[in-house]
Amino acid sequence: MTWSSLADEAGRILEGNWSGGYTTPASGLYPHQWSWDSAFIAIGLRWLSASRARTELDSLFASQWADGRVPQIVYDPAREDDYQPGAAFWDSAAISGAPERPTTGLVQPPNHAVAAWLVHTADIEGSRQARFLERLYPKLVAWHQYLTMTRVSPGRTLAAIVHPWESGTDNSPLWDDALATLPKVARDIPRPDLEHAGADERPSQKEYGTYYWLAEAYRDQGCDHREGQWRFLFEDPSFNALWSASEHALARIATEIGRDPVPHHERARAVTSALDSLYDESLGVFVAWDAVRHAPVRKATVSGLIPLLLPGLTQADQLIRTLRGPTFLGDHALLVPSYDATAPDHDPTQYWRGPSWFNMTWMVIQGLRTHDQDALADSLTQHFCALALEHDFPEYVDPWTGAPHGARRFSWTAALALDLARTSPAG
Ligand code: SER
Repeated sequence: MTWSSLADEAGRILEGNWSGGYTTPASGLYPHQWSWDSAFIAIGLRWLSASRARTELDSLFASQWADGRVPQIVYDPAREDDYQPGAAFWDSAAISGAPERPTTGLVQPPNHAVAAWLVHTADIEGSRQARFLERLYPKLVAWHQYLTMTRVSPGRTLAAIVHPWESGTDNSPLWDDALATLPKVARDIPRPDLEHAGADERPSQKEYGTYYWLAEAYRDQGCDHREGQWRFLFEDPSFNALWSASEHALARIATEIGRDPVPHHERARAVTSALDSLYDESLGVFVAWDAVRHAPVRKATVSGLIPLLLPGLTQADQLIRTLRGPTFLGDHALLVPSYDATAPDHDPTQYWRGPSWFNMTWMVIQGLRTHDQDALADSLTQHFCALALEHDFPEYVDPWTGAPHGARRFSWTAALALDLARTSPAG
């Protein structure tokens, strides 16, 4: 592998998936604009075209809701038949405060301020000329305000997700027990996704039955879980680590445009210290908090390593030990598995139930650098880039063999490979 062949091929993929105003995650499987995908994509795109990276984020925030939420998916009406649930399922036009373009009512992890700051730093002059941060800052503030006002339960500090799709790790074992208590829709659910990936690589029909039931319930109560007794509510460590990292980024953005960074530092510190309550000493990793049952879900997943992103994290040494141990990398893993390698139900090929995902490994690499673990960051970077190039930039891989799964020419794999190629000491 050479860094330049990697960057060239990643660039071709991002060109191919560019729709004119944003980048689709994968042309067949995911034909619309996805929220946290766009932020990861912008982080790589900044090395190809900073102006296109700015457009990527601008176009997503053009579909921000009046209450500040940034939707999980902004639909392309021309591709309505190619993905389910589509725009017709959500009918967002019927919901007050929804934007002009059709979207879902759900959200995804808040990695956008991190992306906005990184996009800015790649072309400071162009960004200042375009008044990129001035334009985006109030929108990012409104997005985080939505989390504070709507997703933080009374007496808590962390934000909760209301549907597995909001975690970005749809069928993570973290959600199994809660989903098992919920009804499923009775009708047949269309699965255009299965035309682009094997059924054994995607969430099951049973899981989709519950996903739909929960999404319908949410839609039917105006996309606000606070109406009545919501039955799926989790504080996810990765979602909240990204919120805190994004508050740190907002502080930098505020300083750059002459605004007050202090409230953002304060929020970042508050969220980081509230994450303490999700730390599981015996697993050596952060876990999810079930806010319906008021209990932790004691399972080790890659989401529990993402707080490594945070400077000053008191559990950083233990997390790094767990990452190096048999639960994750052990002696053999090429990239970070999404689920406890020692668990009897670990499955190295099944979406979020074992395989390694490139965005998660990219965040772990950033976290390792934050905590001065450059040697391990370098070796993960080498595996990341070699596997991406060898297997046509897959959606995810078997952590032990590197065998590719899911979509190919996947945008965030390409974007984050490009980012590593441009920012790694060896790149
Ligand atoms: N990850 C979801 C899917 O598989 C959407 O956010 O369709």
